[in-house]
Amino acid sequence: MTGNLGIKVFVTRRIVGLEDYIAQYNLSHARIDVWEGTMPPPYEELVLRSRDCDGVLTMLTDKIDAAYMDSVPKLKVISQCAVGVNNIDLKAATELGIPVGNTPGVLTEATADIAFALLLSAARHIVPGYEYVKSGNWQTWDPLLLLGQQVWGATLGVIGYGRIGKAMALRGKGFNMRILASSRTLTAEDAAKDGAELASMETILREADFVSLHTPLTKQTHHLIGARELALMKPTATLINTARGEIVDPGALFAALKQGRPGFAALDVTEPEPLPPDHPLLTLPNCVIVPHLGSATIQTRREMTRLAVANLAAGLRGAPLMHRAN
Ligand code: DGY
Repeated sequence: MTGNLGIKVFVTRRIVGLEDYIAQYNLSHARIDVWEGTMPPPYEELVLRSRDCDGVLTMLTDKIDAAYMDSVPKLKVISQCAVGVNNIDLKAATELGIPVGNTPGVLTEATADIAFALLLSAARHIVPGYEYVKSGNWQTWDPLLLLGQQVWGATLGVIGYGRIGKAMALRGKGFNMRILASSRTLTAEDAAKDGAELASMETILREADFVSLHTPLTKQTHHLIGARELALMKPTATLINTARGEIVDPGALFAALKQGRPGFAALDVTEPEPLPPDHPLLTLPNCVIVPHLGSATIQTRREMTRLAVANLAAGLRGAPLMHRAN
């Protein structure tokens, strides 16, 4: 994209609807440099291409640290096209007076949908079932084949009861599930309004048939789920993670799944990400993994672009961002 050289912006990936929203938010006059690679820009390229920029529109795959910010002296705004901002040094941005935008709200339903899709898929062996058919093993209807767990009326534990956790609970209600919810700020009264029960993380891990993680990744939630927590889960239970991979200790998860406690894991996010094809978790029959697709619907990705460009445009003119993470 070309334009008058007054304002320069680096967009670190091609994203759905970018051109439309650049026009809608009156940025057609700006010089918009879009990274065309299918892989994220390497850190050195990120720095190089941002150097004379006024704004940057980033993805969760970009490392935006203090050194990066120091190397972009004109930077007025960092607009992240995601709700999670754990790839950005928020403290450094705040100290430098740089607002960091993010895109909450618009990806709530899509992410809850994929969390529930993973829950159903794990409970009813959808992936092993497909593999079974594809590999030519389907000889007859078998009364003992791939017996799963009943979802209707089971107990769903939601750890992290923000927008997405709440949306997951709502889906669980549709399946007549008992909902246990834990969060730092939730009260028993507010949980009850949603037909949920406030519970400690420990109670959730002990009692839930499905445990779904919806906390942001912070220093406090890094490896929140480790060997001790996994050992509390029932052998029939499933762990679902659509939040951030680093919330679960992958070594502990591998060991726990190998011993069958919990019985299953269904992950949209992993540590590391991407997961290398020879990772031990991929050798397990009781683990299903998809490649961080939580927000991956056309409608949601368009909305994320819209919010990210709106935040960018506001930051460039020194106005308050619609959603600011720092
Ligand atoms: C986010 O916005 O943080 C999601 O992980 C993107 O899918």
